[in-house]
Amino acid sequence: MKPVIYITRKLPEEVIAPLKEKFNVRMWESASEAVPREILLKEVVEADALWSVLADSIDREVFDAATKLKVVSNLAVGFNNIDIEAAKEKGISVTNTPDVLTETTADLAFALILASARRITEAERELRKGNWTSWSVMDYTGMDVGGATLGIIGMGRIGEAAARRAKGFNMNVLYHNRTRKPEAEERHGFEYADLDTLLGESDFVLIFAPLTPETKNMIGEKELAKMKKTGILINVARGGIVNEAALYNALKDGTIWAAGLDVFEVEPVPLDHPLLTLPNVTVLPHIGSASIRTRYAMMELNRNAITDVLEGREPKNNVV
Ligand code: NAP
Ligand code: GLV
Repeated sequence: MKPVIYITRKLPEEVIAPLKEKFNVRMWESASEAVPREILLKEVVEADALWSVLADSIDREVFDAATKLKVVSNLAVGFNNIDIEAAKEKGISVTNTPDVLTETTADLAFALILASARRITEAERELRKGNWTSWSVMDYTGMDVGGATLGIIGMGRIGEAAARRAKGFNMNVLYHNRTRKPEAEERHGFEYADLDTLLGESDFVLIFAPLTPETKNMIGEKELAKMKKTGILINVARGGIVNEAALYNALKDGTIWAAGLDVFEVEPVPLDHPLLTLPNVTVLPHIGSASIRTRYAMMELNRNAITDVLEGREPKNNVV
């Protein structure tokens, strides 16, 4: 009997073909719709490996339903969708896809910084609606990125890659972590700041911390009030880190100037979400790591991790 792998999204055939030689590969046959919960719970019963995506909730109920599960490999670097404690208790490996997506995601963060500062999507929307009637002196005027101060909350792999890009824009970089990074400070001139100082001094606040009980709702009404009125909040980490109701109020009443969001508390974001009614919010459908090269590199990490575990080797990128 070949070990069973269950994949929760349709993946390219060439990615899974090598697995089919050795394993019994089962897969949810939609690339865009999440596997229904009851099917996930049924499929996991017989699975030796589960290949999940960030939209799946791999909670205790899933781990309890499994009878021979050895590894969950998540197609993301973030693993807040997985109950790590339950995995630990059951001795199940959990792996993720760090590093290969770092530069791609930092690019996207910079795209959002530029788009939000220069009102790119707002201006494009108006042009397409036929509202470009003549050149105007002050229409769509925004904020300068070059020379501004960027404050990064969560100066890890991606935060640092974004900070390096910022240096190319002659930006001053502040960062806030639980632990300081003296080497990055020395080598690149990044400056450590406590959260309040970072919020108060930054023109752009960029979030790249993981979603944890500690970071959930870390940016709420009080924190937004500490930002500059011309400040721009960029979140490419996880929606739950920012209190969306507080963000809506801050953007509407001018507490801050704009926001760029790749992530939301509930995804896909409902179309009637109040944030989508505001012109000063640039929104994207969680595409941080979405380059072709990077997505294939991420899938390769998952495939290797699953193969390693099922063949009795220690997988790379084990987060448990
Ligand atoms: P990483 O290297 O682990 O960096 C995370 C950083 O956050 C660390 O430097 C960590 O430093 C800091 N941090 C953790 N808890 C914190 C807290 N309570 N307050 C302040 N800082 C805190 O991870 P990464 O590879 O850069 O990825 C970061 C996150 O980006 C992922 O977890 C994921 O959610 C998100 N992401 C999103 C996309 C997308 O498509 N939008 C793509 C990739 C990643 P300390 O431990 O010293 O605090
Ligand atoms: C994407 O959000 C990831 O965590 O890789």
